[in-house]
Amino acid sequence: MDKTKHLTIEKPDVQDKGIQGAAAILRDGGLVAIPTETVYGLAADALNPQAVARIFEAKGRPSDNPLIVHIAHLDHITKVARTVPESAAKLAKAFWPGPLTMVLPKADCIPDKTSGGLDTVGIRLPSHPVARAVIEAAGVPLAAPSANLSGSPSPTTAGHVLADMEGRIEAVLDGGPCGVGVESTVLSLVEERPLLLRPGGVTPEQIESVIGPIDIHPAVYHALEQGEKAASPGMKYKHYAPHTKVIVVKGESRDFARYVNSKGDKIGALCFDEDLPYIKVPAVPYGHAGRPDTQARGLFDALRHLDGLNVDVVYARYPDMDGMGLAVYNRLMRAAAFEVVEL
Ligand code: TXA
Ligand code: MG
Repeated sequence: MDKTKHLTIEKPDVQDKGIQGAAAILRDGGLVAIPTETVYGLAADALNPQAVARIFEAKGRPSDNPLIVHIAHLDHITKVARTVPESAAKLAKAFWPGPLTMVLPKADCIPDKTSGGLDTVGIRLPSHPVARAVIEAAGVPLAAPSANLSGSPSPTTAGHVLADMEGRIEAVLDGGPCGVGVESTVLSLVEERPLLLRPGGVTPEQIESVIGPIDIHPAVYHALEQGEKAASPGMKYKHYAPHTKVIVVKGESRDFARYVNSKGDKIGALCFDEDLPYIKVPAVPYGHAGRPDTQARGLFDALRHLDGLNVDVVYARYPDMDGMGLAVYNRLMRAAAFEVVEL
């Protein structure tokens, strides 16, 4: 394939040249990476199975891992979902546009390729004005997984996208860095009780304040046991991992620094900004202590920098667990293949 085009935006509206360019490629069955408020998405026409097949190829993604369908208007939910329960309508009203994906029974127009062969579909109305303008200009719902190679950290800048996708996709639309920094919350509403499949930009507490108690899938906290069923196919695969081995360390700032500093050569640290003065090994900060929102925004970029440290093991500071903390914890634990040391 030719070089990937780097499209820029003057104004986030449907008439913008960059957005029109992206929409034309998408209508033609091509692939464009687009900014969303969470991470960059690798978009294609969700209703075109050939276009969607190319997403799987470009990412090296297993074909049973379904894609989220992105819409630009609340009413369009009834075009892509077969039925919309009361709970989904309430959540859409509370959190859309925004970082919440709802899994619902899929409408017939959604190809099996898009839903990974499932009878359900994940639906999201993003709040990023560029994402919405592109969906509107394309005139079709867009299937978009995170725009990274399968298994790598999700991209939060156009530069991250190009590092993984140069020459594999037609274009990237540059909207600057993503504000949330971790992917959307995925909530299944197809069973009796709502089930959180992936923590993200909307917290469980926020969801429960609108629809009452929800369940959280055990794979959010632990590695799937052998033979345990993955409610979300994405749970089965190793994720967000740099090549360098990562181990999460639970302990206070001083203890963390002492532990890491005592480990010898070829050791690195993934820590908070406030830890840096105490750490004597190569270190990458991923946010401020006590500020899960900054930890979410910084994590994927920090993970992408770890391989450049040229060390054998990176010890990572355990995230703060309130607010978006569960989403950060879940990504970091997966990057570390759930290996934790408690001090
Ligand atoms: O924030 C986001 O959600 C980003 C942006 C681009 O919108 N997208 C994203 O997509 O993170 P992806 O494909 O990287 O992650 C979607 C996750 C996967 O783990 C997938 O298995 C799960 O959602 N998923 C999608 N559709 C599903 C369905 N019908 N049932 C169960 N899980 C589903
Ligand atoms: Mg992904």
